Amino acid sequence: MAFTLPELPYAHDALAPYMSKETLEFHHDKHHQAYVTNGNNLLKGTEFEDKSVEEVVVGSFGKNAALFNNAGQHYNHIHFWKWMKPNGGGKPPASIAKAIDESFGSYDKFTEAFIQAGTTQFGSGWAWLTVKDGKLEVSKTANGENPLVHGAQPILGVDVWEHSYYIDFRNRRPDYLKAFVENLINWEHVEEMHAAAVK
Ligand code: FE2
Repeated sequence: MAFTLPELPYAHDALAPYMSKETLEFHHDKHHQAYVTNGNNLLKGTEFEDKSVEEVVVGSFGKNAALFNNAGQHYNHIHFWKWMKPNGGGKPPASIAKAIDESFGSYDKFTEAFIQAGTTQFGSGWAWLTVKDGKLEVSKTANGENPLVHGAQPILGVDVWEHSYYIDFRNRRPDYLKAFVENLINWEHVEEMHAAAVK
């Protein structure tokens, strides 16, 4: 089915000072819109026209790079907006905290691994918290790729393309990642995706 740009679940200035109005105007209104527009043009006449975005992502991987890049980025950004909220971040709710402790040892060890994945992703990409074989894992991917194509379900992701942080943090990607973890994560959306992934 055709891709559509979702509304931001908060005002453009609601995540400041960690993510500014200007960043969200470019990132959501221009960059995400471009993935939607280009994705829809590339979907036309393909076998994927009536498929869900997840099916397009998995089905086009390794077969149609241009469609995959735009569909992957559409999927990634749909969730990225929901993975943030004003006054977010910090310690997760009990159900996620338990799963994090079981997989990483502690919340601090998880945040260290997640920030490290985002910092060391060379060039554009994403850092992820995923469920694979019932267990939580941290990973990273390049460009528009995401864990769905590697048999894992993303439950949290952070965009480390420069368009996500350069206006607010310039080249200080680690500071952006720290702000994301401490002030922006919407754990309720993570919890929702975790519950769906492990049931
Ligand atoms: Fe982005």
